[in-house]
Amino acid sequence: MTSETELNRLAEQLPAWLETSRKESRHGQPASYIPELAYAPGDALGIALLDAAGREVTAGDSRLSFTLQSISKVFTLLLALMDQGEEGVFRKVGMEPTGDDFNSMLKLELVEPGIPFNPLINAGAIAVSSLIRGATPAEKTERILSFFRELAGDPTLTFNEAVYRSEAATAHRNRSLAYFLKDNEVLDEEVEPVLDVYFKHCSVEVTCRHVARMALVLAMNGTDPSTGRELVPRRYVQIAKTFMVSCGMYNASGEFAIRVGLPAKSGVAGGILALVPGQYGIGVVGPALNEKGNSIAGVHLLQTMSEAFDWSMF
Ligand code: DON
Repeated sequence: MTSETELNRLAEQLPAWLETSRKESRHGQPASYIPELAYAPGDALGIALLDAAGREVTAGDSRLSFTLQSISKVFTLLLALMDQGEEGVFRKVGMEPTGDDFNSMLKLELVEPGIPFNPLINAGAIAVSSLIRGATPAEKTERILSFFRELAGDPTLTFNEAVYRSEAATAHRNRSLAYFLKDNEVLDEEVEPVLDVYFKHCSVEVTCRHVARMALVLAMNGTDPSTGRELVPRRYVQIAKTFMVSCGMYNASGEFAIRVGLPAKSGVAGGILALVPGQYGIGVVGPALNEKGNSIAGVHLLQTMSEAFDWSMF
């Protein structure tokens, strides 16, 4: 099937599939440990899919704004790799899945040398935030924002102040993780400035289309789909995609690999970034989460699409 035929079929079927998946959201709830996220509409579900030729398919609540949350961790990892190289990054963070919750601190104490297992759990992403180049937290945040803007194709992208404040005021667990990392000499800088960078990149506000555009750059191995210019070295995209497969859906990554079979990254605001290598970037939002912190309807919809078009990489 050519990409164009596939997209036409997708555009026809997607609205009905989406309504079926939307029903799954009654089995989950929006996150509330960041108080501001609890206001999200629990039964919303939206999707945008982009291909390299600029074709676009959207369905459902694709215009709903939400914050990237953990989806941002893929892109701060890429920026840290561009800033520090592989060696610089992997001195501070490992390459293995944990099997634990995304905010767990269990293994930080249990396993030597006390560096986070991977860059997509909270502890790992906090360590990565400290590796972004910049003399001040504001400079680091500005560099992160301009990188995200370039990948999302939107120079106006910025963070949501209310969500940022809400997380900063309530992030007791992330603070304890960060102090642990400081004590283990993973963080060279002070805790609060690093956390400020982390909270801000988690609260960058997007729609599914932005996420689909960011995913498309990864699907095209780091090149800008419109100009063909390299935005991220291919090797670093390869690293990020591998982490997405092994850890992108946290301790549900194995099940997601079996059911959907695509590199993906979820966030607690209900977003999922997924990609079909060489073909499509996909952004999904469905704020009702399952017990692992992944969008319940979003995962259902991705599984339906992957099965229908045989997208699994495996
Ligand atoms: O640090 C946190 O808890 C949030 N800013 C991000 C966590 C998250 O998105 C986990 N994803 N499923």
